[in-house]
Amino acid sequence: MIYLDNSATSLIKPKEVYAAMADCMKNFAANPGRSGHRLSAQAAVKVLECREELCSMFGADDANRFIFTQNATESLNLAIKGFLKKGDHVILTQMEHNSVIRPIFTLENEGISHTMVDADIYGRVNPNDIENAIKSNTKLIVVNHVSNVCGTVNDIEAIGKIAGKNGIAFLVDAAQSAGILPIDIKKQNITFLSLTGHKALLGPQGTGALYVGDDSLIPLKTGGTGSYSKLSYQPDDLPDKYESGTLNTVGICGLCEGIKFIKKVGIENILRHEQDLTQILLENLSVMKGVSVQGYMSNSQRTGVVSITSDKKMPSEISELLNIEYDIATRSGYHCAPYAHKALKTYDTGSLRISIGAFNTKIDIEQLSSALYNILK
Ligand code: ALA
Repeated sequence: MIYLDNSATSLIKPKEVYAAMADCMKNFAANPGRSGHRLSAQAAVKVLECREELCSMFGADDANRFIFTQNATESLNLAIKGFLKKGDHVILTQMEHNSVIRPIFTLENEGISHTMVDADIYGRVNPNDIENAIKSNTKLIVVNHVSNVCGTVNDIEAIGKIAGKNGIAFLVDAAQSAGILPIDIKKQNITFLSLTGHKALLGPQGTGALYVGDDSLIPLKTGGTGSYSKLSYQPDDLPDKYESGTLNTVGICGLCEGIKFIKKVGIENILRHEQDLTQILLENLSVMKGVSVQGYMSNSQRTGVVSITSDKKMPSEISELLNIEYDIATRSGYHCAPYAHKALKTYDTGSLRISIGAFNTKIDIEQLSSALYNILK
């Protein structure tokens, strides 16, 4: 198979990820932080190692501020529902995923209002529009760093400055950027950083994290933490405050190796590789009659998430033909981001999404391009 659905999950992981997970599962998958024996301690050391890898990758000072979750959806729900209170106002953008849209719209029932800022036809949000949407009760700004529909990069540094200047917390959804683009919590003034482990961080499914820069966040889960067992209320210590229940130690061991692999190869080299392949794909698409590319045609403000539509076939039909006749994996439809399709003017059809990952090759892109050419000629 040629796998070009990396925005949904990366299929191929570094060999160190598989090895670390098997090693943990076979040799030390005891409960971290719960018991004093050597295997529990060994598991806890590995969990801490992964937190420290996250901390150094994203420019934070305190590893204990990285809370392990199951995925980005859990991280985003924790940040949004744990932070906002009745009477608050939150700003989001049209480029958000349903894992941001649905929690925020659901909070309307609890007296929390929102403003959704438009993006342009390239999926780019003007930071001034965010500033103009600020009200006296705005408590949180939520921005998708990279669109999971069209790969457009939004300017989180400029938006972070606006949030900081106005004393507003800033939540960045980095599901499609962590592991591809550099992110610096301090420089970009990020209060909450939502991460998934199974995409470009090259870890397994069932791993995610939230960086918590404001301890007024209320935990969504309370329960056993392995600490202060006689206390009937949730402890205040980090990360325990937000991490009740047994962790996915095996998954975290895999994630740790995914992050180490990215650091070893160099995030700038992964980005350059994905941009080189994206450039080839965009050039091939630009000569196909009746094909429109959503988002930017040049690499400067995008990653390797490429959405297209055709005047010959619906995205679902193209994706199905690629799957059945060419064994090429893509995704079609709305990608859980309906308002992004409004911005991109693809709300009636959705799009065919080709998402490039660290392990794709030039041959993958040439074979996909030739398959698309045959399907759409
Ligand atoms: N959010 C993931 C995607 O865009 C699953 O496909």
